[in-house]
This record gives sequence, C-alpha cells and structure tokens, in this order.
Amino acid sequence: MIVYRTKEELIRHLDDLRQKQKSIGLVPTMGALHDGHISLVSRSIEDNDSTLVSIFVNPTQFNDPSDLEKYPRTPEEDLILLREKGVDMVFMPPVNEMYPETDGRQFNLEGLDQVMEGASREGHFNGVAQIVSKLFQLVNPHRAYFGQKDFQQMVIIRHLVDQMAMKIDIVACPIIREKDGLAMSSRNIRLGRKERKTAPFIYQTLVEAAKKQAELSPSELKSWLSKRFEQQNLMELVYFEIVDDKTLKPIESWERDVNKVGCIAVILGGVRLLDNMIFN
Ligand code: PAF
Repeated sequence: MIVYRTKEELIRHLDDLRQKQKSIGLVPTMGALHDGHISLVSRSIEDNDSTLVSIFVNPTQFNDPSDLEKYPRTPEEDLILLREKGVDMVFMPPVNEMYPETDGRQFNLEGLDQVMEGASREGHFNGVAQIVSKLFQLVNPHRAYFGQKDFQQMVIIRHLVDQMAMKIDIVACPIIREKDGLAMSSRNIRLGRKERKTAPFIYQTLVEAAKKQAELSPSELKSWLSKRFEQQNLMELVYFEIVDDKTLKPIESWERDVNKVGCIAVILGGVRLLDNMIFN
C-alpha cells in the first residue's frame, strides 16, 4: 500500500494505472475508519482493479470550529486497517495541499443543500462539494463509493457529478449498524457510556415508525416520532423528514409514486447523529 501526501505523486501513479487500462475506485473519507467505511472499501476492491482511499478532514465543510477540532482523528489505526484490507493507495494530504488558496467556489445545489442537514449547518454541503469536486477532478475515478447513512450527501454528490458532466459511477452502499442497531459513524466514539447506551433508540424508533406507516399519514408519523423523542431527556431531535429520495422534497402522502426515505438527525451528549430508513 502506498501512502501519498501530495497531488503530484498521486497523479503520476494514477496516470500510470490509466495507461495500463486499470479501473480506479475512490473511497473518500475523513478517517476515523470503522466497519461502515470498510464496507465501502471492500465493495471498491471487488469492483475495480485499483482502490484509492482518501483521508482528509475537510475544514470547509465544518461551520463550527469546535466541531472541526473535536472531529476524531486516528491516522495510524486507519492505515493499519487499510493495509490489512488490501488497499493499493491512500491519499492523506495536509490542508494546504488541498487548499493552497481559499476556495471561494459557490455551488448551485438547487436547494438540495438547504433542507435537513443544510438547514442547520450553513455552508456544509458547499464545503462537501468543494472537496469532493477537487478529489474527483484529481483522481477521475471510474467509481466512487459513499455510505447511505449520509443520504442527503449522497444525493448531492450525484447532482454534483451531473453538474460537472463527469463520468463517475456513484455507488451507494448500505448503512452498516452496530449489533444494537446504531448506525456506524466516526462520531460514535465521542459518545459517553450513558449516551452510547441510549443511542440505539434512534434506529428502534425508525423501525417502529416503519411499522406505523399503514395507520398514519406522513405528517402524523412525524408528530408521533417527535412525541417519542420528547420523552428522551438525553436526546434532542433536530429533524425527522420523510422525503422523495431524489428531490429531497417532503412527502405529504404515501400514495405518491416516488421512493420515500425517512431521514433523522439527533443531538446526543453534544454529538450529532444521523440515520435514515427507506419507506415503501
Ligand atoms: O462523508 C464524509 O466523510 C465526508 O463528507 C466526505 C465525503 C469524505 C467529504 O469530506
């Protein structure tokens, strides 16, 4: 496994792979790797001749400096995991390699970035678009892998690829859960003991919500869910939205002939946790 810190070295290797007609899979991450990331890596290794994992905590997608500072960083452990997995290349650039100057680009994400996560994290998805577009332009992979846990991010990245007219296949991989149902996330390691014990309530509630679909309308289901969260004194429900899985527009009736996904964000002990569930 080769670890690259500069774009120049990486480009040289990628040019060589392309000349040899090798397919390239990209797994963009911010590190603190867990089994969710590893599932993306496994899928990329299966699908491509060569897999590149990027590890870069992207400052421009954090609107809160203390969130950026507290974001978990475990580079040594990450490299051990990736080596064991059989990854060919890792790209771990310092900040000034990706942002030699301030990135002032404003992406038109057509409102996809204004709802749910975007409503309370101003500029977050513009920052994601900045770094993902840089990585896509640099690597120009055949395929790129993203977890469905960050559902809104995945929809926005698909939109970005269309907008940039790039020929990259965006592969969405299923949520990987802990045994008790908690969706895996790098942020989970910041949960205290009490909070960690409470956290599976999020998934349990989504499962119950899915069962209630037959008896409640989408807006009744939303009220039912927010009442359940009112009884939880450790958790604050930020939002629960049932949306069209392409436009991210809220669904008013189950009859609409679109795929529906229930997206939730919760703050637990100061940690923001996301999850979602497909509603048929
Ligand atoms: O999902 C993430 O870890 C990040 O948002 C991503 C896609 C690596 C961009 O920094």
